[in-house]
Amino acid sequence: MRAPCKKNVNSKKIANCTITMPPSIKIFSPATVANVACGFDVLGFALNSPGDEISIALNDSGSLELHDATPYKLPLSPEKNVAAVALQSMLNALQSHQGFTITFLSKIMPGSGVGSSAASSAAGVFGANELLGRPFTRRQLVEFAMQGEKVASGSAHADNVSPALMGGFTLVRSYAPLDVIPIPSPPIFAAVVHPQIEVRTSDSRKILRQEVSIKKAVEQWGNVAGLVAGLFTSDYDLISRSLHDVIVEPVRALLIPEFYAIKQAAIDAGALGCSISGSGPSMFALSRDEATAHKVAQAMRYGFDRAGIESHTFVSPINKEGVRVV
Ligand code: HSE
Repeated sequence: MRAPCKKNVNSKKIANCTITMPPSIKIFSPATVANVACGFDVLGFALNSPGDEISIALNDSGSLELHDATPYKLPLSPEKNVAAVALQSMLNALQSHQGFTITFLSKIMPGSGVGSSAASSAAGVFGANELLGRPFTRRQLVEFAMQGEKVASGSAHADNVSPALMGGFTLVRSYAPLDVIPIPSPPIFAAVVHPQIEVRTSDSRKILRQEVSIKKAVEQWGNVAGLVAGLFTSDYDLISRSLHDVIVEPVRALLIPEFYAIKQAAIDAGALGCSISGSGPSMFALSRDEATAHKVAQAMRYGFDRAGIESHTFVSPINKEGVRVV
């Protein structure tokens, strides 16, 4: 005898029979700017766009099934895909064998320096957490999403996944134990320019010096503290004085043609400060208002034009919400 057909809101008609489909949800996960000049591996903020979109559903297979609808030929084996690795670490913590089906619908361009792998990792763990009835807070999900970063770059840094999950500016005060602090901010607009060159995070981490002089360390932690204080107190001059990186930027600037000329053009156009977004090649600048941020974005783009490099720009306020169900 044929099994009775079931009907519910997630039903689909197949061969004259309406069968029940597992509920699926769609997730938007934002691009992020990590480091924010002086805060290598500890500071980051989220943008409104671009971002990743995935759909995620429970399945009965007990495994992670991945589908790619993006043009980027994403790795689809669960051990190599950042979202799957992050989700698996969450399932391990829950001692769960629940299966999930994830479809990557649209994607931040990989290797752009605006947290492409972090957006996928955050989307995977956030979506699964929603479907499982929220066993974890957004802050707790950071620990799992970091495991995706380890696959992508060889290092489980949290400065992109924290703002992707929690929104706004975030500070990773400590990695062991993980301690992520949300930082309030006054109205502030980011201009991001993405030159069409690829810099792999793993490569741009390898070139960093492993030792820092005490003189440079003093300058750097003065700026980190100044930036955090400026964000807390809405002191734009202090934010501007603090957006300096004397440790990482001088090394990585070599990977970005005309970096110093483009940075100067952003400042001349009115930016509070400008530096490399994450591990590059994108550059970001912060401005007090949207009109200035657009001028800054244009000035930075002209800089890359002059160097004969095509680039794309984004202007966004700080995204306060982070990853969300759409
Ligand atoms: N903090 C990391 C780095 C971010 O600069 O390598 C990578 O996006």
